[in-house]
Amino acid sequence: MKTLYLALLFTPALCLSAGKPAQVTAQQFVNLQQGDAVFPGFRRAHAKGICISGEFHSNGQLAGYSKASLFNEGVTPFIGRLSIAGNNPTAPDLKSPVRSMALSFAISHTEQWRLAMNTPPVMAVADPHTFYQQIQAVQAGPAAIQQFLSEHPEASEFRAWAAQYQATGSFAAETYHSINAFYLVNSNGEQQAVRWAMQPTVAVPASALDGNDALQTEIASRIAGAPVVFNWVFTLAEPADDEDNPTKAWPENRRQVTAGQLILTGTTAQLEGDCHAINFDPLVLPSGIAATRDPILRARSAAYVESYRRRAKEQLDGALEGSNND
Ligand code: HEM
Repeated sequence: MKTLYLALLFTPALCLSAGKPAQVTAQQFVNLQQGDAVFPGFRRAHAKGICISGEFHSNGQLAGYSKASLFNEGVTPFIGRLSIAGNNPTAPDLKSPVRSMALSFAISHTEQWRLAMNTPPVMAVADPHTFYQQIQAVQAGPAAIQQFLSEHPEASEFRAWAAQYQATGSFAAETYHSINAFYLVNSNGEQQAVRWAMQPTVAVPASALDGNDALQTEIASRIAGAPVVFNWVFTLAEPADDEDNPTKAWPENRRQVTAGQLILTGTTAQLEGDCHAINFDPLVLPSGIAATRDPILRARSAAYVESYRRRAKEQLDGALEGSNND
């Protein structure tokens, strides 16, 4: 009896316990996301990417809403990463349905802000357990995901977006969304729920692209020629809007504020770049930005750490093996 109790206690929980929502552990998420084919040393999701660097030029428009110094008028450098969804670091760029941008700002000696954004504006589901089931359905194939989506009416806005989304011919031409909402907090302690989007300033048709690494090759040569610019646009929620539910977009007439421009000036292959060793955990926030109660944010943070832990260990083991061969 005692053995059974201990086994239950230490088995990762994916169950409904009385009155509480079903739990998924970070280990379960990462086991599922990495699948059977593990690529040692790489991220378990969004494994294929390229490091970027540049500056955020703030126009000061958000300084009254957030005390984060990043929003004062001025310039803050960043290290970032452009990636495609999936667990395979050699996957064909053009097959992935989701493209992504991650950013890390070193705001001061004591504060960092890490952000990870995707092309859809909303998620299909609102809680980690259902997201786990969604990944299972994706892995089971097209029929399973169609079945899953038809059983989840909360996915309607995601489905509408997916039906009209047209992939562009460049990482530079996509719009990247925070999806989850956060609070801006000003020096009076007032908070404002927001979502944000990095909006492109160029249009690039998809037809121009070809090859396994088409997106990486295109963005590296584009940035080598001239900086790539995005407008960083924040949408301000009103009291009627639910900031904790990432499946629901807020009405289109909500106030939008452009905080400034993100200017990409450099790219580096990920294994040689600074972005490879960064965990773009969305809960690494500076003073002036706070998390909402959206449960997806907690699940993301835990899973990113678990993925980081695995890939960092594999890299270290590889480096140690290499040094033993010297
Ligand atoms: C419960 C939901 C989610 C889970 C469990 C999850 C899990 C993960 C994991 C394990 C990684 C790899 C982290 C690493 O090794 O550094 C990752 C990367 C990433 N995720 Fe998520 N994710 C979730 C939702 C989202 C959402 C909603 C977004 C977009 C807003 C997002 C955007 C990204 C991006 C952009 C990356 C790549 C970051 C980089 O370049 O390192 N994820 N995710």
